[in-house]
Amino acid sequence: MKPAVILVSKIFPPTQEVLEREFSCWRLYEAQDRASFLREHAQRARALATFGPPGANAELMDALPKLEIISNFGVGVDAIDLKAAQERGVAVTNTPDVLNECVADTGMALVLNVLRKFPQSDAYLRSGYWASRGPYAFTTSLGGKTMGILGLGRIGEAVAKRALAFGMRIRYHNRNKKNVPYAYDPDPVTLARNSDVLMIVTPGGPATHKLVNAEVLDALGPKAYLVNIARGSVVDEPVLLKYLQEKRIAGAGLDVFADEPRVPAAFFALDNAVLLPHVASATMETRTAMGNLQIENLRAHFAGKPLLTRVV
Ligand code: 8YV
Repeated sequence: MKPAVILVSKIFPPTQEVLEREFSCWRLYEAQDRASFLREHAQRARALATFGPPGANAELMDALPKLEIISNFGVGVDAIDLKAAQERGVAVTNTPDVLNECVADTGMALVLNVLRKFPQSDAYLRSGYWASRGPYAFTTSLGGKTMGILGLGRIGEAVAKRALAFGMRIRYHNRNKKNVPYAYDPDPVTLARNSDVLMIVTPGGPATHKLVNAEVLDALGPKAYLVNIARGSVVDEPVLLKYLQEKRIAGAGLDVFADEPRVPAAFFALDNAVLLPHVASATMETRTAMGNLQIENLRAHFAGKPLLTRVV
């Protein structure tokens, strides 16, 4: 008999196709009545496959007493209650490394687009203004500017490599200093004060909740920019919106938001922000590699082999 796997949300279709072929999959996201769905599968569900914000909380784990593993599609596991998983002896896996390059590309693209205002100049041309109003206004160059990386992990290092190629200087803040050739700042406020672009690449979750607040944005100041490719929860979003509206920071490039896919409509009116619908890892190649890791972790688990990328 194939092991039973609950699909908490819809997954990248080619990955879901494989999962549904190899395992006995049940779609929680299609359930009309969640409680009766969970009751029906309580005695057979041995795994959860998760993607994105629904994640898995303690209540879901308790509803499935035979649960052995949660295999997440994505490196960030902030939507999964890791402590609850650990306490219940449930393994959690993620999909690190395979997305580093694409996410770093997106970080760099946001820096370019926010400082150089390419999306706005594209809209200017399409509106016919080039001929009627003349050249587009001057923007800001990247070369010689300092990028402060908040969270210099594997993705942060990939961003740093790219930023260096664009002639930028790199500083960073992590809880612990690393053995890297970049200047270290002891806290996010100091890093923001020393940066022209503050690049957020920390994990989400309680430890970084609203880490980038009014104090950090004040330290960043009206000539500097914020880019977030991490999680919306790391930033105090209403405060960020206000600072962008009042030009208390120069601009922002955001791939992530506090309550995805809902983005407060006031953001749409900002001419100093570039907004992306959480696409950093969303290429066919990277999503395929992420899906393969999610599948391989489940295969390894049910074959009694060591997990490839275990978080807890
Ligand atoms: C996913 C991500 O799109 O890997 C991550 O942590 O943020 C993205 O690659 C995300 O998991 C979906 O919400």
